[in-house]
Amino acid sequence: MMLTERATIDSRNWRAGCMNEPDFATFARQIEHMQLLDGKLLSENIKSELAAEVDLLRERKGKIPHLAAVLVGENPASQVYVNSKIRSCEQIGFKSTLIRRPEDTSEPEVLDIIQSLNEDPDIDGFIVQLPLPKHINEEKVTLAIDHRKDVDGFHPVNFGRMAQGLPAFLPATPYGIVEMMRRYNIETSGKHCVVVGRSNIVGTPISILLSRKGYPGDCTVTLTHSRTKDLPAEVRRADIVVAAIGIPQFVKADWVKEGAVVIDVGINRIPDASKKSGARLVGDVDFDAVAPKCSYITPVPGGVGLMTVTALLMNTLKACKKEIYQ
Ligand SMILES: NC(=O)c1ccc[n+]([C@@H]2O[C@H](COP(=O)([O-])OP(=O)(O)OC[C@H]3O[C@@H](n4cnc5c(N)ncnc54)[C@H](OP(=O)(O)O)[C@@H]3O)[C@@H](O)[C@H]2O)c1
Repeated sequence: MMLTERATIDSRNWRAGCMNEPDFATFARQIEHMQLLDGKLLSENIKSELAAEVDLLRERKGKIPHLAAVLVGENPASQVYVNSKIRSCEQIGFKSTLIRRPEDTSEPEVLDIIQSLNEDPDIDGFIVQLPLPKHINEEKVTLAIDHRKDVDGFHPVNFGRMAQGLPAFLPATPYGIVEMMRRYNIETSGKHCVVVGRSNIVGTPISILLSRKGYPGDCTVTLTHSRTKDLPAEVRRADIVVAAIGIPQFVKADWVKEGAVVIDVGINRIPDASKKSGARLVGDVDFDAVAPKCSYITPVPGGVGLMTVTALLMNTLKACKKEIYQ
């Protein structure tokens, strides 16, 4: 699988005509030691494990994990994300409920939906897809969710417990990243990790998780952001780079140390006339230039995004089994 994907990178550069033959030979040699962190393959493996657990739960306890998702408005990206979450639930035998409301739904109406999901004993966990329309206060919504059903891990109770190393629902994207590191046996102890971006859903929590005691953790972490002075110099010191900025192909090859592990969280749509849709997805890392320098790198698409959905499913199963809260 890894080899096939390596070959895909080779052929993409080859076909694009961006390299002559000697350059291609050098490129092929350089990437010989690089491995793609394959979010697609890993998610499929984890989903098979989850499906087996669902069978056991059904047999032994007569229970099936139930995830609900609330989608307000017509944001196209949100619709894609929610549909993929619902599809994944179906794939592994979870029950799922999608609650869709129009863009002009009022804040009290959304809070009422949350209240009823909090009180519904059949719902193990639920998410409210962000971003919400501007007239709805996201903080109020997040706080209204019962932290015992907060499978997105955004509630301050879960965030605080995570920071203290207590059992908690971890935010889905950082959870997906650490699970990926664990399953690929990425060495983290004593490594210097530079996180680019400090959002509450990605940058800040992954910086906490990788600096916690234990594996995957025990990193020395630098958390960078838009006010960081000389960002390229900071990134150059990293054994592990986590890029979560939201700017296409922002992290350049000359910022990255030879042999670094690069985790690209970004999902950005850029114009591409060669595609039927006129656009394609890229990450926050200049993948083609950076990949040959890395020991491991996540592709976009096919990397962290798929692991995020899988992490949400892992949290929902934990909620159903009451592994975190009684
Ligand atoms: N793969 C997934 O499942 C997944 C999940 C969530 C998000 N994403 C993607 O990940 C990316 C980041 O998302 P997010 O929600 O974390 O973004 P966000 O809330 O917009 O935060 C972006 C962060 O990047 C920093 N930043 C912006 N410009 C910078 C610059 N020039 N130099 C250094 N830092 C800069 C910002 O710094 P300040 O704090 O100083 O403004 C901020 O901390 C987006 O592409 C998003 O679509 C993917």
